[in-house]
Amino acid sequence: MLIRRARKEDYAAFAAIEAEHAGFPAWGAAGFLAEENNRNSVTLAAEAGGAVAGFINFWILRPQVQLNSLAVSGAMLRRGIAAGLFAKLLEYARKSACAEIDLEVSELNAPAIAFYRAHGFEVVGKRPKFYNNTEAALLMRKTL
Ligand SMILES: CC(C)(COP(=O)(O)OP(=O)(O)OC[C@H]1O[C@@H](n2cnc3c(N)ncnc32)[C@H](O)[C@@H]1OP(=O)(O)O)[C@@H](O)C(=O)NCCC(=O)NCCS
Repeated sequence: MLIRRARKEDYAAFAAIEAEHAGFPAWGAAGFLAEENNRNSVTLAAEAGGAVAGFINFWILRPQVQLNSLAVSGAMLRRGIAAGLFAKLLEYARKSACAEIDLEVSELNAPAIAFYRAHGFEVVGKRPKFYNNTEAALLMRKTL
């Protein structure tokens, strides 16, 4: 697995991965492109076997990192790809002297919640009707 900075040519593959996950709050290729205008934004791609297998986007808002989006292709789940992307986020966070990582995740997204708990996140709050005016978001935080 290779983790590297995302490039414009990756955005269609990211959008395809988003589309594999029903209910995932998708940015689409245009959304990833728009992130290039945000100097706090970092988007990374994971490659496996020469193909894009996942991505992560986060904002470095010292002293916090906001994890906005993380997804892995359905055929490549449970192989440590999200863990590899998250490990790289941690490198950025430490180099930027950030003290915590924050994110929002649907309370119905059991795989993601399990992933984040396994990586040291705790639930610190809840936003009712955050997604599509129905699903609540859990606010999760990891202190570094
Ligand atoms: C959450 C997600 C990114 C995890 O990606 P992944 O590459 O499969 O994760 P990894 O292989 O690095 O880590 C797997 C670990 O996460 C947890 N996990 C992941 N999927 C799980 C599931 N379906 N059930 C229970 N635990 C799960 C477990 O701790 C697991 O460890 P194990 O395989 O040893 O049990 C992936 O499921 C995904 O893309 N989901 C759709 C998009 C999404 O919901 N993103 C997060 C919200 S922004």
